[in-house]
Amino acid sequence: NKDLTIGMLGFGTVGSGVATMIRDNEKELTQRLGVKVNIGKIVVRDLDKERGTHVDSSLLCTNVHDVINDPSIDVIVEVMGGIEEARDAIEKALRARKPVITANKDLMALHGHSLLHLAHENGCDLYYEASVAGGIPIIRTLEDGLASDRISGIMGIVNGTTNYILTKMKEENWSYEEALSKAQALGFAESDPTSDVEGLDAARKMAILATLAFSMEVHLEDVAVTGMTSITTEDLQLAEQFGYSVKMLGFAERDAEGVDVSVEPVFLTSSHPLAAVRNEYNAVYIYGDAVGETMFYGPGAGSMPTATSVVSDILAACRNLLLGVGGMRSHDPMNTRLIKGEEE
Ligand code: NAP
Ligand code: HSE
Repeated sequence: NKDLTIGMLGFGTVGSGVATMIRDNEKELTQRLGVKVNIGKIVVRDLDKERGTHVDSSLLCTNVHDVINDPSIDVIVEVMGGIEEARDAIEKALRARKPVITANKDLMALHGHSLLHLAHENGCDLYYEASVAGGIPIIRTLEDGLASDRISGIMGIVNGTTNYILTKMKEENWSYEEALSKAQALGFAESDPTSDVEGLDAARKMAILATLAFSMEVHLEDVAVTGMTSITTEDLQLAEQFGYSVKMLGFAERDAEGVDVSVEPVFLTSSHPLAAVRNEYNAVYIYGDAVGETMFYGPGAGSMPTATSVVSDILAACRNLLLGVGGMRSHDPMNTRLIKGEEE
């Protein structure tokens, strides 16, 4: 087998982490896959930006289509963000029968279902583990680990930026503005941090998790969202005096009436395990009828944790490519193709 080559769309916080990991873990990745993974091209917006010494500048370009149409590129990694350009790029890549890995929850929450269909129609994979909870393999957990169970609910902290801000305001007495600007500097926040602090980023992630958990299409507009911008340092300190912590939580619950999904700041007793989740860390409870209560914890944002999920997806996509089983993985949350298959 020849080496496999990936084309990267984006080289920011996540993209640079992916390149670092592919370089630093070359031996392990090659052992696990049987062939080497190389980076063939990297699309960026600004060729003149200072990027340190860890990127070969001859790989950089600005035209997404040059990367997708390059016959030497086997797999596309979309880590540039945004909706329309990213969607167009991913659709073109899938139509060119190239597997795609994305970290883009905005896109997956909005167009995930149609993109997953397109991937299947073209016999290739679309992986999106990094779109929810950074380094925690939560998508695989719902798709595979807990696939046997009937999921009744999900509750958790799924946005690292707001958890970081709330932690620093409470523990270090930082102002909201100070904490937000540090979260941006650390690469946790979205390019427009409004989506973090107004709860939209968490709502998109909860829509993705609820779609997987309940096998029904849950959209952003189905999620009731309250942001955290009106919370002050005094509120957090007062809550603490009464034995409470304030956390931005996402909820997805199924009952006889249907499904309820929401994101809001909530008072938790300080002894609750979620109250102990600090900084950019995330934690997600999943409740299954058979398994009972499970909890998943880890870094929810940042370069290397998010790269871990992206590179694991790259390995999975490359493995399927080598085995010739692209598009076979049961990654369609609605399972439409199996149901369709029964009808045919
Ligand atoms: P970022 O640091 O802003 O990096 C974006 C990269 O994409 C930059 O290299 C930028 O080029 C390039 N880019 C953006 N738009 C482009 C366009 N139209 N054409 C060509 N290149 C373009 O963003 P990030 O934090 O890495 O996030 C990337 C994606 O991962 C987003 O979907 C985000 O929601 C998701 N995500 C982020 C995290 C995190 O912790 N940061 C975690 C999970 C998921 P320049 O370098 O030239 O500006
Ligand atoms: N802005 C997001 C967060 C990045 O803070 O959780 C990870 O998805």
